Amino acid sequence: MKVAILPGDGIGPEVTRQALRVLEALSLPGLTLFEGDVGGAAYHRHGHPLPEETLTMAKECDAVLFGAVGDPTCDKLDRHLRPEQAILGLRKELALFANLRPAKVYPGLEHLSPLKPEIAAQMDMMIVRELTGDVYFGDKGTRAATDGSDEGWDMMSYSETEVRRIAHVAFRTSRARGDKHRVTSVDKANVLETSQVWRDTVIAAADSHPDIALSHMYVDNAAMQIITNPGGFGVILTGNLFGDILSDLASAAVGSIGLLASASMGERQTAHGTFGLYEPIHGSAPDIAGQGIANPMATILSAAMMLRHSFGKEAEAARIEAAVEGALADGVMGRDLGGEHGTEAIGAAVLERL
Ligand code: NAD
Ligand code: IPM
Ligand code: MN
Repeated sequence: MKVAILPGDGIGPEVTRQALRVLEALSLPGLTLFEGDVGGAAYHRHGHPLPEETLTMAKECDAVLFGAVGDPTCDKLDRHLRPEQAILGLRKELALFANLRPAKVYPGLEHLSPLKPEIAAQMDMMIVRELTGDVYFGDKGTRAATDGSDEGWDMMSYSETEVRRIAHVAFRTSRARGDKHRVTSVDKANVLETSQVWRDTVIAAADSHPDIALSHMYVDNAAMQIITNPGGFGVILTGNLFGDILSDLASAAVGSIGLLASASMGERQTAHGTFGLYEPIHGSAPDIAGQGIANPMATILSAAMMLRHSFGKEAEAARIEAAVEGALADGVMGRDLGGEHGTEAIGAAVLERL
């Protein structure tokens, strides 16, 4: 079981350190960790945000645990050299087209949510976000507009092949959740051709999943309903851009972006399970980096997802999740949740409860 640890920038190394403490405490036989540079840290050291040796290391491992990338001092670099290209490049190069982002309010933790407790209590959704297509990976550029001013442009597209494979992931995920078998496909088919192909393809793919209740919702309405009626959602199936936005929204409804983990997977199987990259949904948070106050729970929970999906270690994953939940229930909270615990203290509290 080989894991590439890629801490990255800003709070990335701070939160990754706590996830490593948790992994080390489990002393899993055969677990070997390798560490690599990504993001702005890699750019400053090697001149590239995703150095060849980091990509090779990731490919040779069975899973990747990723912190965050993003460095304001790099925002003026050519786009291909910016830190964000590291995570986009890894997703593309490793063919990680399926991004799972669970957003759940645990019983008894409704008070963490800014929603009314009775509404927050209903929240238990899985966002299945397509991760290697959409406007993220289309051609882009700047050109002269008809009035002579500069304009930026980005090509948005989805092929049936791309939509079909993520739709099947969503249907299978819904079935495995054992919930009410609800999949809501979120698009903007009232305006975008990309979304019309998306919707038609999802409907066709549903033919082979007759047990799943499929519905469709426009993304603007979905943003509203995640807040007003989170209980209306089981699995949300959506594209790269909408999934990015809706998952930050869902994290706020849970209580904090510092709580939301993610798994990014493709089709590759290793000797231990499905190859995957695991990361918190948040970024490098330059506004709080270096202060020891970042919430590491999202990264710790991402490590749990890694044990579950890439190493078949359900019991250990559940133990980590219970430890995080227990810490929250005991009032162990960072500033993001209105508490006073720092990054180290939160890591220690989770360790204590393991
Ligand atoms: P962000 O997620 O880094 O931060 C948004 C806000 O949430 C900030 O106020 C931050 O302090 C807070 N926050 C985030 N994570 C937190 C945590 N664990 N504990 C406590 N508070 C937390 O988003 P941003 O500010 O828009 O982006 C900063 C940089 O990160 C940018 O360069 C962006 O491109 C990058 N980014 C990277 C990833 C990734 O690596 N996968 C994801 C999102 C953003
Ligand atoms: C995320 C991030 C990334 C995305 C950025 C950093 C490229 O926001 O993982 O949610 O947009 O996918
Ligand atoms: Mn995002």
